Parts: sequence; C-alpha cells; structure tokens
Amino acid sequence: MRAPSRIASSSCSLATLTSDVLDRWLEAVLATPGLTALRDPAEARRVLLDDALAGLELVRRFDGSIADVGSGGGTPGIPLAVALPEREVTLLEAERRKAEFLERWTDELPNLRVVWGRAEEQAAKGYGVVVAKALAQPPVAAEWCLPLVQEGGVVILWVGPSANAEAVAKAARKIAGELEESPAGFIVLRKTGETPPGFPRRPGIAKKRPLA
Ligand SMILES: C[S@@+](CC[C@H](N)C(=O)[O-])C[C@H]1O[C@@H](n2cnc3c(N)ncnc32)[C@H](O)[C@@H]1O
Repeated sequence: MRAPSRIASSSCSLATLTSDVLDRWLEAVLATPGLTALRDPAEARRVLLDDALAGLELVRRFDGSIADVGSGGGTPGIPLAVALPEREVTLLEAERRKAEFLERWTDELPNLRVVWGRAEEQAAKGYGVVVAKALAQPPVAAEWCLPLVQEGGVVILWVGPSANAEAVAKAARKIAGELEESPAGFIVLRKTGETPPGFPRRPGIAKKRPLA
C-alpha cells in the first residue's frame, strides 16, 4: 500500500499534513474520462499535485478567500484546499461535467465549494486570491481573473517559461491590475482599484480581441 501524500506545512513548523484524500482524488482524475490527457500516475502526480503545491507558499502570503478559475479536474484548487484548511477555496469551472466531478470532493473538504460557470459571467466576488493554471493565454487569464478579486487582492497565474510578463502587465493595467514581483513559474498581479466599466467583456471577446 502506498504512503499517503505528505504536504509540508510551514505554518506548523516542521509538521506535515498527510492526506489520503489527495491520493484518492488523483486516482479519480485519472480514472474519469475527459478530465486529463495524462495517463501515467507519476506524471499526473507531478503535474496535478506537485506543480499545484509549488505555489502554496506564494498563495499563503496573501489573505482572504481563494478561487481557482478553470479548475478542470481540481488543480491547483483541491491541493490548496487540503493544504490550507482554514481558507475557503472556490473552484470555478465552465464545464458542467467537470463541475459535477469537483462537487464530489466538497463532502470531505469542508472549506471547498464549487461554482459551475464562466469567469466572465460571475458577479464581482471579492476573493482575496484568484489562482489559475493552464486556463488560457496569460493576458486572457488575467482579464478573466482580475474582476473577481477584491481591491488590494491578487491574481496568481501558474505560467510556463515562455510567458511574456510585459504583455500580461499591459493587459492588467487596462483592468486595474499591476504586475508584482513574481517568482519563476508564476505571474502575480495586484488589483489596484475598481474594475473599469465595460469589464468583464462578453464571453469570447477576450480571446478574440486580447488586451495585449
Ligand atoms: C486546460 S484546463 C486546465 C485545468 C486545470 N487548471 C489544470 O491545470 O489541469 C482549462 C479549464 O478551464 C476551463 N475554462 C475555460 N475557460 C473558462 C472560463 N472562462 N471560466 C471558467 N472556466 C473556464 C475549461 O473548461 C477547462 O476545464
């Protein structure tokens, strides 16, 4: 039998949090058609769990409720909800079938909730931290995520090495967002004011006419 996943928890010094829910979640993601193209369990663990937790300390720096936009099979939101049980984590997912899969995990994770819908169609929610991984091109992801954040809060995008931070900064400035110092693999945007009139734009427009 495999040992349960271990998550280092710096808030409890060297304590570790063990979680068999994460092991069962990973198995379920692989076993459920349409959630991931990954087939190899070790690769799935790296991409869906380890990559999500690479952002844990960064997320922890900022206060408030957390939303994971375009959560898909539940990453990074589910690993973050397990690692940060005192924080409310909302998974926002546009595809109904995926949202139904995500809903199953709310029974055992009391800080987790699921919203089925598109980011552009949500009323302003005032989250403290909005995260997104592999949601869309970073300027588009920034446009979708910033309106959901309260003033002073942040968007954290998981990005690849080719991401153009300047383009994201340019898009963000048009919707009250400012690029913050960001560790490799992430783009952090601070919400500096109210979302300007006209945003969020209608579904489809951000991709068709990106802000940068
Ligand atoms: C490539 S998947 C990434 C899933 C997960 N974050 C990951 O890293 O594996 C992108 C997900 O975003 C969802 N999505 C795309 N556009 C969205 C939008 N505007 N609002 C909410 N979810 C969206 C899709 O349905 C899909 O599940």
